[in-house]
Amino acid sequence: MSKSDDDSLRPATKLVQGGRRPEWTGDPRLGGGVVNPPVWRASTILYDSIADLKARGHATHDKLYYGRRGTPTVWALADALTDLEPGGEGTLLYPSGVAANSAGLLALLSPGNHLLMVDSAYEPTRAFCNGMLARMGVRTTYYDPLIGTGIADLITPETKLIFLESPGSLTFEVQDVPAITAIARTRGVLTMLDNTWATPLLFPALAHGVDVTMMSLTKYAGGHSDVMMGSLTSTRAVWPKLRSATYQLGHAVSPDDCAMVLRGLRTLDVRMARHGANGLAVANWLAGRPEVGRVLHPARPDDPGHAIWTRDFRGTSGLFGFTLKGVDEAARTRFVDALAHFGIGFSWGGYESLVVPSDPAAIRTAVAWTDPDPLVRLSIGLEDPADLIADLERGLAAL
Ligand SMILES: Cc1ncc(COP(=O)(O)O)c(C=O)c1O
Repeated sequence: MSKSDDDSLRPATKLVQGGRRPEWTGDPRLGGGVVNPPVWRASTILYDSIADLKARGHATHDKLYYGRRGTPTVWALADALTDLEPGGEGTLLYPSGVAANSAGLLALLSPGNHLLMVDSAYEPTRAFCNGMLARMGVRTTYYDPLIGTGIADLITPETKLIFLESPGSLTFEVQDVPAITAIARTRGVLTMLDNTWATPLLFPALAHGVDVTMMSLTKYAGGHSDVMMGSLTSTRAVWPKLRSATYQLGHAVSPDDCAMVLRGLRTLDVRMARHGANGLAVANWLAGRPEVGRVLHPARPDDPGHAIWTRDFRGTSGLFGFTLKGVDEAARTRFVDALAHFGIGFSWGGYESLVVPSDPAAIRTAVAWTDPDPLVRLSIGLEDPADLIADLERGLAAL
């Protein structure tokens, strides 16, 4: 038990206390512990005797057994993440967000099963469905992110899983997660959500009826663009399946990386507040510019997902998109190249602002992306938004 297991605590307090169990930070009876769980690097674990080896041989979680099963640094991060999800039984860690998504899908699907996958999913998630899962005999149907209760019509006797990503990380459609998970439960179908945009701080996924929630910790949890990791947190019912598949797949993460993600996690609450406020300030400024077509940001009242976002989310992160009105790709390139304070790069959620052009039309299959205007995605960092706005003004002048 760590202090943060106490469900009466608020998320910001849990972020500070998570994973700091006395047995992982040094036993206070021996003269006091350190604040952070130290980095325990290990492959081999030594046993006292054969009797000791046999006794620990069946340990599956938070007992030293073999490096791949983790050490206290790894368990501390997993524990801290579970504490953030009311209803979470445990968390498994993966070397990337993509590895977490693939492991979750593999754990929950078998040949002959049918998967409902949101059309706005991150492209490598789609690639896994169209590649590995198709080869295994799992059939995928892509569905409209705005389908809501209409999901009921797509469920067949073979449907075992509905995958959600809300908001979609390129196009920012907000899904009606409670409506979809309620239908899934009555039909005996599991749900899994890519919750990287919101994190459990803004959207506690399991409390909204989701069975498995995934995060790319590479993004906001790590927060500093220097580490890659992914996580799955699930309810008690699904946990044994996930853990067993993860052990069979042999996933292991570095304790050094876990210490870095834990360090990021401690400041997630304050960073998210600033990312959200900065992002909204920039989005609102863009919305008032004649060069801008649409701003895709669910925290803006004119966004089609705003009502559901207001109902379900506790705030906004700093990732959103916008279109450049009536211009071609070359103009978008001039705009991006003219920016000085936005790095051009994939990923997001770090302290520094990033920009990427994005082209959803090429990957959508359920609902065509018909907007002819070129789309840009911004990850707004922790800079002063006035400097970012001045930079974007320069970019627009280069169109
Ligand atoms: C929504 C979403 N999910 C998952 C991932 C994959 O995470 P990772 O880069 O850690 O593999 C990304 C990465 O950009 C993402 O944007």
